[in-house]
Amino acid sequence: MDQSIKTLVALDANVAYDTIQAALPTDSSVQVVGMIEGLDEAWNTLQETTADLLIVACGGYSDRALYLIEGAVRQRPSRPVVVLTQGSPNGFVRRVFEVGADDVVVLPESQEGVKFSLQKAMARKLGVTGVGSLATAPLISVLGPKGGTGKTLVSTNLAVSLAAAGRKVALVDLDLQFGDIGLCLGLSPERTVYDLVKSGGTIDADKIEGYMTPHSSGVRALLAPSRPDQAASVSVELLRDVYSVLRGTYDFVVVDTPPGFTPEVIATIDTSSDVCLVGMLDSLSLKNTKLGLETLELMGYDRDRIRLVLNRAGSRVGITGDDVRTVIGREPDVFVPSDREIPRAVNEGQPIVLAKPGSEAARAFGLLAGTFLESSGGNGSAKRRRSLFARKG
Ligand SMILES: Nc1ncnc2c1ncn2[C@@H]1O[C@H](COP(=O)(O)OP(=O)(O)OP(=O)(O)O)[C@@H](O)[C@H]1O
Ligand SMILES: [Mg+2]
Repeated sequence: MDQSIKTLVALDANVAYDTIQAALPTDSSVQVVGMIEGLDEAWNTLQETTADLLIVACGGYSDRALYLIEGAVRQRPSRPVVVLTQGSPNGFVRRVFEVGADDVVVLPESQEGVKFSLQKAMARKLGVTGVGSLATAPLISVLGPKGGTGKTLVSTNLAVSLAAAGRKVALVDLDLQFGDIGLCLGLSPERTVYDLVKSGGTIDADKIEGYMTPHSSGVRALLAPSRPDQAASVSVELLRDVYSVLRGTYDFVVVDTPPGFTPEVIATIDTSSDVCLVGMLDSLSLKNTKLGLETLELMGYDRDRIRLVLNRAGSRVGITGDDVRTVIGREPDVFVPSDREIPRAVNEGQPIVLAKPGSEAARAFGLLAGTFLESSGGNGSAKRRRSLFARKG
């Protein structure tokens, strides 16, 4: 997009002018036509201005911000609204999308990152698809609104299943503080994403390859830093570069994420082609899964790009398939049963699809991989998949 985006910025009382000023791109991509302090005043200006886009900046949860967004969207639905916030307390991101905002950027974020969000919001409203993207491989984010639902189990087994179907697969551990993909796959983290950051310079395919750890299945993993304090040096900007390079060189990129909608997770969802939401079969988890689904839909995700995986589906917790459909409002795509072999396989650093290929869990992952192979137009892969996961005797 070559044209400068005429932007009106409305500042809530709980955010400093300088902070927002510093976050905005300084090149010609964005032209700030007004910076208004106080959201109540913003409303009058909004009615008079011809800005292309509205930025609402706030320090964290703000009812005033929600009110302004809602009014602005109603007044001119074709004008995108992007929220810059210094924190994303529980439920705020969801509310922001609910009232009609196009994107949320959690600060601090680089000027490039902010620019990308503004351009994307404009492009979406103009009906432009595939902003700045070439033909690239699917990027699947594996998400779970809560910890311990089985995201890492799903991402590792999905990646290995796709590799077993003959695909070139990159697996990225975005759980930057407590990532355990290395453990689950029995890999030793000699080089991690932290080393990639520290190496400096531009990121290209050759360079990234030097930081990927190979697994015997053919999957290549970009492992999380080995110490939690190293996580902070991995920026959203770097992740975007990493994703775009991997999508150019692999057939599939699978990203394991930490629980919740952190800034890194939001940025990853934004760039991903598909989302795999992992929930569990108890009422609290179902409620969170439903909230997760709603948040994704509010972020503009088509339902058919979201796979819903219900983990520990065999547990006897008094919840039926009908209960699930009633609470979540849709049919799960795949059920993964509870299986004592799963923690054992994890302890041995073996994904269950390789440790127990005949198990029901392994077949569930085969099925999940199949849905991605089909939608990516995988020729002949179905046959190979079936033979891989056929029950052994
Ligand atoms: N279907 C299952 N049957 C038995 N054990 C399971 C099953 N799914 C997950 N587990 C066990 O539950 C634990 C949590 O799983 P996992 O690490 O995949 O969850 P997670 O969502 O990635 O967690 P976190 O949010 O901490 O990253 C692991 O010890 C795993 O072995
Ligand atoms: Mg995990």
